[in-house]
Amino acid sequence: MVVFAMGCPSGLRGLSLALLASTASAAVIPRDPIPDGFVAPPYYPSPYGGWADDWAESYSKATKLVSQMTVAEKVNITAGTGLFMVGRCVGNTGSVPRLGFPQLCLQDGPLGIRSTDNNTAFPAGITTGATFNKELIYQRGVALGEEFRGKGANFYLGPSVGALGRKPRGGRNWEGFGSDPVLQAIAGAETIKGVQEQGVIATLKHLIGNEQELYRMYNPFQRAYSANIDDRTMHEVYLWPFAEGVRAGAGSIMSAYNDVNGSAASQNSYLLNGLLKDELGFQGFVMTDWLSQISGVAAALAGLDMSMPGDTIGNAIPLTGHSHWMYELTRSVLNGSVPVDRLNDMATRIVATWYQFGQDKDFPPPNFSTNTADREGPLYPGALFSPSGVVNEYVNVQGDHKVVAKQVAQEAITLLKNDGGFLPLSTSTPLFVFGTDAQADPRGINSCVDKSCNRGLLGMGWGSGSANYPYLDDPISSLRRKAANVTYYATNSFPSVQTPGGGDTAIVFISSDGGENTYTVEGNHGDRDASGLVAWYNGDELVQKAAAKYSNVVVVVHTVGPIVVEPWIDLPSVKAVLVAHLPGQEAGDSLTELLFGEASPSGHLPYTIPVSEKDFPDSVGLVATPLSQTQDTYSEGIYIDYRYLNKHGIKPRFAFGHGLSYASFTFSNATIKRVPNAPLSEEPPARPPKLASPIAGLDVSLPDATEAYYPESGLDRIWRYLYPWLDKGDADKAYTIGVEGREKYPYPEGYSPEQRTEVPVAGGTNGGNPALWDAAYEVTVTVTNTNTGKAPAGKAVAQAYVQFPAGIAWDTPPVQLRDFAKTGKALGGGESAQLRLSLTRRDVSVWDVVRQNWIVPNPRGRYAIWVGDASDNLRVACYTDTLTCEEGLEPPV
Ligand code: BGC
Repeated sequence: MVVFAMGCPSGLRGLSLALLASTASAAVIPRDPIPDGFVAPPYYPSPYGGWADDWAESYSKATKLVSQMTVAEKVNITAGTGLFMVGRCVGNTGSVPRLGFPQLCLQDGPLGIRSTDNNTAFPAGITTGATFNKELIYQRGVALGEEFRGKGANFYLGPSVGALGRKPRGGRNWEGFGSDPVLQAIAGAETIKGVQEQGVIATLKHLIGNEQELYRMYNPFQRAYSANIDDRTMHEVYLWPFAEGVRAGAGSIMSAYNDVNGSAASQNSYLLNGLLKDELGFQGFVMTDWLSQISGVAAALAGLDMSMPGDTIGNAIPLTGHSHWMYELTRSVLNGSVPVDRLNDMATRIVATWYQFGQDKDFPPPNFSTNTADREGPLYPGALFSPSGVVNEYVNVQGDHKVVAKQVAQEAITLLKNDGGFLPLSTSTPLFVFGTDAQADPRGINSCVDKSCNRGLLGMGWGSGSANYPYLDDPISSLRRKAANVTYYATNSFPSVQTPGGGDTAIVFISSDGGENTYTVEGNHGDRDASGLVAWYNGDELVQKAAAKYSNVVVVVHTVGPIVVEPWIDLPSVKAVLVAHLPGQEAGDSLTELLFGEASPSGHLPYTIPVSEKDFPDSVGLVATPLSQTQDTYSEGIYIDYRYLNKHGIKPRFAFGHGLSYASFTFSNATIKRVPNAPLSEEPPARPPKLASPIAGLDVSLPDATEAYYPESGLDRIWRYLYPWLDKGDADKAYTIGVEGREKYPYPEGYSPEQRTEVPVAGGTNGGNPALWDAAYEVTVTVTNTNTGKAPAGKAVAQAYVQFPAGIAWDTPPVQLRDFAKTGKALGGGESAQLRLSLTRRDVSVWDVVRQNWIVPNPRGRYAIWVGDASDNLRVACYTDTLTCEEGLEPPV
């Protein structure tokens, strides 16, 4: 299979591919038709930002600043200055020094600051989701924000809620929080809040449909795949977490590499102008994923606001200094192709976002370099001749973040099985430990660039979503610290061992890795295309052989996503199984404290572990159509993960949300109330009118050509650096065309430069019609730890799932997660706590494709809100018609 591995190469990887890319244009590549019913209708023009009350002040400051900018200055802040050019981060914008607007630093990634030092390597998104602990997720966001600020990064390129986890083999699911829109939405929003409260701008990514890594990008021979998503599925599943993120105030959004319904996500007017900016009322700005821009004017018209890292893919390397924007955008504005108001809007959105998070006051400049670990290095690494200077100041930003990192790692650990209460172990039990995954990579904890190998403990997946470990607390060191008698076999092939004595216990570590398509690891091109959902390095055999020898086996799994456990899960000696997900730097004590009962497991699966991968529909397998455009059609619609299995009556091995504790929890005294105390209407109250935008007040006259001329003095031009200026002749020529209006740009179908007066009925600022977030029902439940013995205290999680009334006109999944809550403290035997679960109007609505609105199908009907500790262990139901609850029920699925 031919795989083009681009993305954001760290260092010089990917050079050859980009060289290839410079020889052809994707525009001439044939493609299969997009299947019927999947459309990306034209949506123009791009709606102005600046119509939300809570952004008003920032927009007012921004319009003042932008009104003083020349055309070249406005253009300069809408793009990066080029891969490896000036700037120390993975993306670096141009600046407007004359007006005090700095170069902005954009840096990966979702679990920590990438490619630097003295940072924390937090647990990955998937681990964070598995905690089902909102407060803890928020605290991780706070810590991440502090670290990005401390390093001088204006942007946190995260969180990732797309990939959402539709495909179990998908390479980047682990960067997000789990295969459910609500889990992604809540965890994404809490992360955004935590990060942005530190004045760092979060970048919610990737909009949308980047559910597989293979064929994700355009290359000279092939278009990126098209994610074909119908309108209802888009709203109820994939857009849902983006809506929540916009509501939480996300400052920026990154578009995906792929097409959506046949139109590239970076220039898809339906997606950017329609869904995101008009319906969800997004006030921040949209940036491309790295090198995903495929056109200049079309992208601007379709709603793109920032090009990253600024280069075209075709000429990115060897950095010949080509851009779809920068000088080309200046030219397009001067010659009248891109309307001045669009450029005003782009620039103002960016500047307003900078103000919105207070970055005009005391935001530190970057003090690290993503390109080198050396103190000094080239200031323009991509230039032929570059002056050198200090690029790394090694600022330690870790603070006490290891505490929250460890807590996330620990609260995520999911106990799948614990036969006869085998765990916790005694520290005096002789332990025989197997598997290289128990120890740190012997060649060095950061020996593989961007974690592009799975050697030693798997603490994170690979690619731009990885970070350097400052240190790694590996499980074997922690076991040795705590247990009296540990024998370690650092091998994945079962060694010859002495015949164990009675009571001996084996702990077997196995793993499954995945990552970004930039790298291929053990034949896996990002997605787990080679390994499938099978433990790597013959992990199944290691467990089986250990189980044949020892009478007690504990399996610990570090994994990016579901693995099939059938080869060994029912073996009588496999007593306990823990999924520790991707723990980051705190992999050791977080685990062993649970093994030895210093705390109780409280993680829950953020995806389903099926009996067989074949239990999922074919449409969520990896797809590839070499030499044509791959069509990735979401024919399963809203039925992914547990929704699909439940609909088809297929029992998983371990259901979404499953997770055992050493404590025994019961749920009782459930109550439900309608908030406020009046029946819901079928349609939400009308959306508020769209307010006027201050962008409309900015000057739209054609800028003078002189505004685009290269400065006559003070600029030492660097070859291949991306500048917004034009040579005088070019600027004059473009201006003349603009004045005379003689060459008309071939505008896309449906294009109009006039702002729309008609607005989406479901729309509003910050996520859509605010009424969608009105509280609808509140459920409370008492959770009690009924243990009477000496078992350790444990935190309990309550999950609330909605079941729509029978007989409605929409097909809905048997149950859908809508909220969750975790006890603030661990409950000892006999202790209780009350947990509160809230459902909004949107939670009891479906997306009506005809009315283009969220509809409560039967407001007076019987919605059941099921509560329990797993999607297949729901034994309490509260009903919206009678406002009563029942306990001790048979679970609905
Ligand atoms: C990834 C993004 C990342 C960017 C910058 C791309 O390859 O898809 O998630 O933020 O590179 O490194």
